[in-house]
Amino acid sequence: MTTLSSPSPAASPMPRPVDTRVTRLLGLRYPVVQAGMSWASSSAPLAAAVSAAGGLGVIAAGPMAPDALRAAIHEVRARTDAPFAVNVPLYNRRAADFLDIVIEERVSALIASQGGPQVHLERVRTAGIRWLHVCSSPRHAEKAAQAGVDAVIAVGAEAGGHPPPDEVGTLVVVRAVCRAVDLPVIAGGGVADGAGMAALFCLGAEAVQFGTRFLLTPEASVHRDYKQMSLAAGIADTTLVGRGRLPVRMIRNRFTAEYAAAEASGTDAEALKTLADSRSLKLAALDGDVDWGKVEVGQSVGLIDTLVPAGELVWQLVHEFNAARGRLAEFG
Ligand SMILES: Cc1cc2nc3c(=O)[nH]c(=O)nc-3n(C[C@H](O)[C@H](O)[C@H](O)COP(=O)(O)O)c2cc1C
Repeated sequence: MTTLSSPSPAASPMPRPVDTRVTRLLGLRYPVVQAGMSWASSSAPLAAAVSAAGGLGVIAAGPMAPDALRAAIHEVRARTDAPFAVNVPLYNRRAADFLDIVIEERVSALIASQGGPQVHLERVRTAGIRWLHVCSSPRHAEKAAQAGVDAVIAVGAEAGGHPPPDEVGTLVVVRAVCRAVDLPVIAGGGVADGAGMAALFCLGAEAVQFGTRFLLTPEASVHRDYKQMSLAAGIADTTLVGRGRLPVRMIRNRFTAEYAAAEASGTDAEALKTLADSRSLKLAALDGDVDWGKVEVGQSVGLIDTLVPAGELVWQLVHEFNAARGRLAEFG
């Protein structure tokens, strides 16, 4: 049985640095990126712990007030000198305010999602901030590369939160993006451990972004019941709400059952959208209503059954990654 009080594995020793174009670009010790996750990383503790351990910690600005974002940036800085990033969804009505803060505070890197880079790219890069752009297809990656971003992030359909609308899986979309652009690629979606990380390196990625894996740490700021439900979930326990539009991956619950019944009975697109928007991630993550809220996680939730402190997890992932590389090297 998996519980929130499961003992974490014995702390691993600090692994040697791993040198890739992404670690060089961002000044990281390891090519491990903690994905920006609304609520879960919309504060300092998770980002600070990951960055202090040598990965890239990310504050997710999406649901934050601008003042809270600034305070979280200061708090991460008080805890570590290591580089960290802020995630800004570009469609957000406060996106320009968030970007002003990222520039004023000279944050190392911006992870821009859900929108094109053109409007803000120049002022952000002129300020010396690295622009990492989330792309859902090789075509988007090519456009972002032409616009002048520093690196792209490619995530497939297994991912928690918003996977690509065309539902192409991680194995295929990451390979396609690596073929399409010469830029460093950070890849993710469905990765829970260092073996998965090594798989994405084989496809051409030079860092891996982990969302759900870092959501299941003591530092992630989601409700205890959200973590408990996630630890108990298997690999087939998630579903997509909003297919054909902007799908969101989450654990099946009373809300997703209501949505699936509406879909099956031929409810029109407008009414389905209203139903999808009637519940939120906040309801599950903050209020702990895991029956009716959106318990957003990726399919990798079924590979995770313990909470591991985030800093320890960074090192554990690198050790697992090195072990997987060793296994590959053993084949004659
Ligand atoms: C709870 C949750 C919230 C998320 N919020 C955001 C967000 O605010 N901005 C964003 O760009 N991506 C968001 N994502 C997507 C992640 O950044 C990442 O792409 C995804 O978690 C990777 O898949 P994985 O969970 O299988 O590792 C979220 C994912 C989760 C699970």
